[in-house]
Amino acid sequence: MLTLGIETSCDETSAAIVEDGHTIRANVILSQAIHRKFGGVVPEVASREHIKTIVPIYQQALQEAGVTLDQINLIAATQGPGLVGPLLVGLTFAKGLAFARSLPFVPVNHMEGHLAANILEHPELDPHHLTLVVSGGHTMLVEVKSFGEYEILGKTRDDAAGEAFDKVAKIMGLGYPGGAELDKLAKNGDPKYFRFPRAVLKDKYQFSFSGLKTAVALYIQKLEAAEYEQHKADIAASFQEAVVHVLVDKTVGAAKDKNIRDVTISGGVAANSRLRALMAEELTRSGRRLFVPSIALCTDNAAMIAAAGYYRFKKFGPGELVADAIPYLKLE
Ligand code: KG4
Ligand code: ZN
Repeated sequence: MLTLGIETSCDETSAAIVEDGHTIRANVILSQAIHRKFGGVVPEVASREHIKTIVPIYQQALQEAGVTLDQINLIAATQGPGLVGPLLVGLTFAKGLAFARSLPFVPVNHMEGHLAANILEHPELDPHHLTLVVSGGHTMLVEVKSFGEYEILGKTRDDAAGEAFDKVAKIMGLGYPGGAELDKLAKNGDPKYFRFPRAVLKDKYQFSFSGLKTAVALYIQKLEAAEYEQHKADIAASFQEAVVHVLVDKTVGAAKDKNIRDVTISGGVAANSRLRALMAEELTRSGRRLFVPSIALCTDNAAMIAAAGYYRFKKFGPGELVADAIPYLKLE
């Protein structure tokens, strides 16, 4: 069964074709470079870029997969959360195709797409697992009881992990989005150079990163220019270490409390090299298994949306063509 997936929730225009929820036949991703000069995503500009590129990106996906629209069995598109204009472009395009071809259509929650990237790539993953969702807009610990059945154990009460990476990267002049650049810079730094604060919260599965971001900003402000230049990589590594330790401690703690063996990381920050390494180390120590998506499937892409759409279709049947874009769609 071939699923066409469409993702346009933020600044990536993506179309993918996935076979039976596990084999990627094509996954075309266009990251809109235009936002870099603004230091962040401009929603209206993103919508217009999606409108310009959605058709050629979709055509390229069909071509790379070596199929025609006649061979597609199911269409899935991101419904939310995300920016309303960008979401509407992909969702309307996908619904139009489904209507014209009388194909079943499934609207997909973007966060379910992220966690589904692991199911797509790791058929051996236990359907009952724990996932740490860490993206530019979200940070949450989710117990996946089975596909489509979720219990949110904890969330961030301020900044998302990716947002903290992006803000610190911006302060350090690493461009936008700066998470991947900061990860690269931190590789040459000493993570023990300075111990930045790790928020201790009453609710043990809750996260907070805004204090850490401010602490880094204040620390940098106080440094002499020459000293800052000399220790840039050390500061990046020390900041990253603080974020990663909090994420790993809470995730491993939850896996132990809930007695869950399999753990995954999903979302853009799952690409972080230190997070992948420390999480694997700590989980293996307690006899658990970590599954992570390949780097290309961590950040926004349509293959994860196609896969989630396929699993959703198998379990719950088709969705409605009246499905509207929902910017604050929750994972339930
Ligand atoms: O999932 P995603 O592509 O978009 C959202 O749904 O938000 O995540 C993007 C986020 C950005 O904040 C980006 O800086 C971060 O993921 N990111 C990273 C790395 N690669 C991407 N953060 C830390 N280390 C990385 N290697
Ligand atoms: Zn995302």
